[in-house]
Amino acid sequence: MIKGVQLIELPKIKDPRGNLSFFENSSIMPFDIKRTYWIYDVPGGETRGGHAFIESHELMVALSGSFDVVLHDGTKEVKYSLNKSYVGLYVPNLIWRQIENFSTNSLALIVSNISYNEKDYIRDFDEFKKIKNGIK
Ligand code: TYD
Repeated sequence: MIKGVQLIELPKIKDPRGNLSFFENSSIMPFDIKRTYWIYDVPGGETRGGHAFIESHELMVALSGSFDVVLHDGTKEVKYSLNKSYVGLYVPNLIWRQIENFSTNSLALIVSNISYNEKDYIRDFDEFKKIKNGIK
C-alpha cells in the first residue's frame, strides 16, 4: 500500500434502464473538485503521466475499458488496475504516477483540486525522490 492512496467505491444506482454512478463535493470526494479532464484515443502500448504533483490531488476513474496506474512514493511502487466505472483511485499530491496498459477505447476520467498549472508538476524522478526524502 502507498500511504494516502485509496480505492473509493462510488455510489452505483442500479437500474434496468442502465446504471448510474456519481461523485460530488462535500461527500464521497476527499477534496473539492476544481478541474476535470479525460484521456482517450490512447494508441496501443502508449503511456501517460510520468510525473508527480506538488499540490494537486486527483481521483481517477476508468469510465470505460481499463488501464493500470503505477504509483511510486519514492520508496516503493504499487500498481492499481482500474476497470470499473464505479471505482475511483484517489492519488494525493507528491505521488509519482504513470498510466499504462490502456485497453482499446478506454476512457480515463480525472478530477483535480486545482486548476491546471505546469509549475505544479515534478517531471524528474530523481528530483521527486529528493523532495520526498526531504519531507520524510
Ligand atoms: P500532462 O498532464 O503532461 O499529460 P499526462 O496525462 O501524460 O501526464 O498534460 C499534457 C498537456 O496537456 C500539457 O502540456 C498541458 C495540457 N493540459 C492542460 O492544458 N490542462 C490540463 O488540465 C491537463 C491535465 C493538461
